[in-house]
Amino acid sequence: MAAKKEARILPAIAVGRDLFGLQLLPLILIWVVALGRFLFHPVPMRKTSDILWQDAQHQVLFEILDMVSEPGSDAKVLFRLRDYTETHFSLEELYMLELGYPGRDAHICAHDKFREEIDRLLEADQAHDTQFKEIISVFLTEWLTRHVFGIDKKLEQYILDSAEK
Ligand SMILES: [Fe+2]
Ligand SMILES: [Fe+2]
Repeated sequence: MAAKKEARILPAIAVGRDLFGLQLLPLILIWVVALGRFLFHPVPMRKTSDILWQDAQHQVLFEILDMVSEPGSDAKVLFRLRDYTETHFSLEELYMLELGYPGRDAHICAHDKFREEIDRLLEADQAHDTQFKEIISVFLTEWLTRHVFGIDKKLEQYILDSAEK
């Protein structure tokens, strides 16, 4: 009776549980959780650029942003994020200057907005609050993802088309 009711409500799980007489429900749940973590993980593990230094630096930035939301992380991670962001943005800006990149002003303006956000976060009273860190990690990761797969892609192509890559 109970099995029939369950089969009506969750047929896929009920079928999986009874398959070969094995208790597959825990395995199915573990698989679903693992798949969810893979699909919705905030760090894009995919390649961000065909330029080696640009892709490597983006990956480090996403890793640091991931660390911001980790339990027990302190304000040092935000300082590290600020420093590494500066390293990366400065290098892109140097390339833009050296190559006479036409979209330089708009790109630097976007970098400056990110710099301001990080500075504002470092001044915030809640910088140590776990929930606050999770929110800023998601916010900055989304911002950076849009930047990296948006405006940075135009710069990437310009550098690749030049002889300076
Ligand atoms: Fe970038
Ligand atoms: Fe950029």
